[in-house]
Amino acid sequence: MKIKSASALQVFDSRGNPTVEAVVELENGVRGSGLVPSGASTGRHEALELRDGDPEKFRGKSVFRAISHVEGEIARAVAGRDVFDQEGLDQALIDLDGTPNKSRLGANAILAVSMAAAQAAAAARGQPLFEGLGGGTLLPLPEIQIFGGGRHADCRIDIQDFMVMALRAPSYAQALEVTFNVYHTAADVMRKRGLLAGVADEGGYWPVFDRNEAVFEALIEAIEKAGYAPGRDVGISLDIAATDLFREGRYVLGLEARSFTPAEFSSLMVSWVETYPIVSIEDPMAEDDWEGWRAVRSAIGGRCQLVGDDHFTTNLARIDRGVIAGTANAVLIKLNQVGTVTETLRAIRRTQKAGWLPVVSARSGETEDAFIAHLAVATEAGQLKVGSFSRSERMAKWNEILRIERTLGGRARYLGAGIFERAGIRLR
Ligand code: PGA
Ligand code: ZN
Repeated sequence: MKIKSASALQVFDSRGNPTVEAVVELENGVRGSGLVPSGASTGRHEALELRDGDPEKFRGKSVFRAISHVEGEIARAVAGRDVFDQEGLDQALIDLDGTPNKSRLGANAILAVSMAAAQAAAAARGQPLFEGLGGGTLLPLPEIQIFGGGRHADCRIDIQDFMVMALRAPSYAQALEVTFNVYHTAADVMRKRGLLAGVADEGGYWPVFDRNEAVFEALIEAIEKAGYAPGRDVGISLDIAATDLFREGRYVLGLEARSFTPAEFSSLMVSWVETYPIVSIEDPMAEDDWEGWRAVRSAIGGRCQLVGDDHFTTNLARIDRGVIAGTANAVLIKLNQVGTVTETLRAIRRTQKAGWLPVVSARSGETEDAFIAHLAVATEAGQLKVGSFSRSERMAKWNEILRIERTLGGRARYLGAGIFERAGIRLR
């Protein structure tokens, strides 16, 4: 089925910032759309998000140039192409851009069209998107934020995400129920302390704490008060986003006015895993601190998931280098870090082939588009990270998995934390 046209519109993300929505229309009139999310704690090796940079217009954040690229060069390049050939389409967009990081046309322009084409292709076949993207049937273990921090909370505390994983729930729907209970109990805990002060960018509670470790204690209290055993029923998962803490060779926890050498900081990560019921840590070390990553993995990689986000930026070459160097055992997957659907699918497959775990992820600036819910099921990634359990840009994804669960009926599979075995991780 041939593509007739591509167009784009400036819309707004969950932080109220401009972003790109593209629509691909086929010759039979079927349409697909794609909305691009946006990060705040971005990695240096990500594909480029093209913004206009005019301080007089949307504080420099408008995306009208990206939109004009979609409606000009990109529209001309995709018109007449077979929408079922996603790889060919994405390669044509990569070639058209001609830069290693999509900086000429903008990864936001390219990705919006790539996602819209995938949606249109599935719609043309009368399939749900997850079938069009690969047809997997494994529902993901949800990784859900309870407290937000770092750049998502005005750097009120250092660590970016304090999350939970329902380790023993037998189904996706039951994992959501466990999370619901912990999320709302955490509000009770904060309210009782007089510290309930709204939510951060991804819907987790605003982190009114004076030590990073105090958050673990509040989280453990919430898990227990909700009726679960920490570490057994519900595990803690962190995103340190350590690149944001790394200044002139040292890791700085500003909240506590403490700073660490890389060796000291990797020891701190290990000691947290030994002290608290932590089952997963994302970006425990800065993006290019390969030595620090190796130290963490050799100490705790057998019993804790170690996820590279800024470290890998969904980039094949970096994933390959990490696999050889042994720096992690999981890869965060974000479409807009790399900029096409095809490259994202390749990154997931490469991760799985290495015996590592892909974690499909949203960004802190999200939209109502639930593409990643389908991506997680289609590729049998086994894990999905979407921020917290509030705000509709987050709930759109959790709810979409419920719909997919319903659509799949008896064909739906769920491993929960059993997915960790694939990477040889044995939780204690
Ligand atoms: P970002 O945060 O979207 O701001 O990069 C999400 C994450 O670090 O996982
Ligand atoms: Zn991250």
